[in-house]
Amino acid sequence: MKALTYQGAKKVRVETVPDPVLYAPDDIILRVTATAICGSDLHIYRGKIPEMKDGDILGHEFMGVVEDVGAGVTGLRPGDRVVIPFVIACGSCFYCDKTLFAACETTNPGRGAIMNKKSATPGAGLFGYSHLYGGYAGGQSEFVRVPQANVGPLKVPDVLSDEQVLFLSDILPTGYQAVVNAELGRGSSVAIFGAGPVGLMSALCARHVGAEQIFMVDDNPARLAFAVEHYGVTPINFATEDDPAEVILQATAGHGVDATIDAVGFEAKGSALETALTAIKLEGSSGKALRQCIAATRRGGVVSVPGVYAGFIHGFLFGDAFDKGLTFKMGQTHAQRFMPELLELIGEGRMRPEVIISHRMKLGEAEQAYEMFDKAEDDCRKVVLTP
Ligand SMILES: NC(=O)c1ccc[n+]([C@@H]2O[C@H](COP(=O)([O-])OP(=O)(O)OC[C@H]3O[C@@H](n4cnc5c(N)ncnc54)[C@H](O)[C@@H]3O)[C@@H](O)[C@H]2O)c1
Ligand SMILES: [Zn+2]
Ligand SMILES: [Zn+2]
Repeated sequence: MKALTYQGAKKVRVETVPDPVLYAPDDIILRVTATAICGSDLHIYRGKIPEMKDGDILGHEFMGVVEDVGAGVTGLRPGDRVVIPFVIACGSCFYCDKTLFAACETTNPGRGAIMNKKSATPGAGLFGYSHLYGGYAGGQSEFVRVPQANVGPLKVPDVLSDEQVLFLSDILPTGYQAVVNAELGRGSSVAIFGAGPVGLMSALCARHVGAEQIFMVDDNPARLAFAVEHYGVTPINFATEDDPAEVILQATAGHGVDATIDAVGFEAKGSALETALTAIKLEGSSGKALRQCIAATRRGGVVSVPGVYAGFIHGFLFGDAFDKGLTFKMGQTHAQRFMPELLELIGEGRMRPEVIISHRMKLGEAEQAYEMFDKAEDDCRKVVLTP
């Protein structure tokens, strides 16, 4: 089969590789019909995720048709159309019992490969996301083995197109969890840092729960303009506004917003000094977006962090966070927890996540697609690939 493989930083290649085979009784083999590139794939593409090996197959946002099932698969048959959560979870361990699927204790054989003794062990296995997260082959391919098939795959009705439901695999539940963690509701105010796919899904979900005022910060004018048009956000371009948090404070009578959402993560563009510290690996992140979030949140508010972080950040103003009485919530998305209710909302026509798609390409063009999405060229917001 054809699959997109990692070949070192900034190098990916579509190659012919062996077809996947059933391994455990509760595995299925999926014929992929649509797959997307995630901002998390860009961390890998830029060589920032450890424990990647040349030849690893990428991709954790995908869906398709069940091709083959193991003897222990109970709810699926060949021919079923399903969308697959990026998190691989067993559904019955200590954490899965608490619906903390991204913390599943049983699906990540790479858990031992921790970077230093003070680091927590990584959580659940993830598709196409390094040997730190289990070394599972990803879904930017023609076929993929899906383990834990009695827990993850969600059947989708034929009346809904691939594009309508594909983002249930990751970014829609991620935006939703960010909003749930931010405790947004009718009348809330929120500032979302990052107008990439995760920031846009956060804006969609913030509107859905009735948030009234949504600030959105980025330096990408096209993404900001899209968010103004579709989600009615108040845009703040940090290329021209040096201190977005200050703008937000001024617009909220000096209080700040009820919650902030950091949909940027550890690769945030920062000042020359902040960026230099990351370049020489003194710090894991510029910390720019997170510091801005702390500054822009009102006392007693919430900082919700779907953006991915690793290792340390400098200048984390814990004193400010304490003084303001902030709550922090973060982490990988417990995708399985939110998928059924979000599918229902899509079915009822109350959520249209597919509007953010800017590029539709063939799997064979994945190399160009990564290059374009990495640089946000050609107003690229979200790429969907079809085998
Ligand atoms: N928690 C999860 O389970 C989960 C799931 C999916 C993605 N993610 C993470 O969410 C983050 C965003 O993903 P994406 O697909 O939207 O990525 P993306 O790279 O397309 O978007 C990031 C956006 O942030 C903007 N940005 C950079 N520096 C900034 C700054 N200092 N202030 C404000 N904006 C800034 C960029 O211009 C870009 O538009 C990534 O870190 C990704 O790994 C997490
Ligand atoms: Zn992702
Ligand atoms: Zn589990």
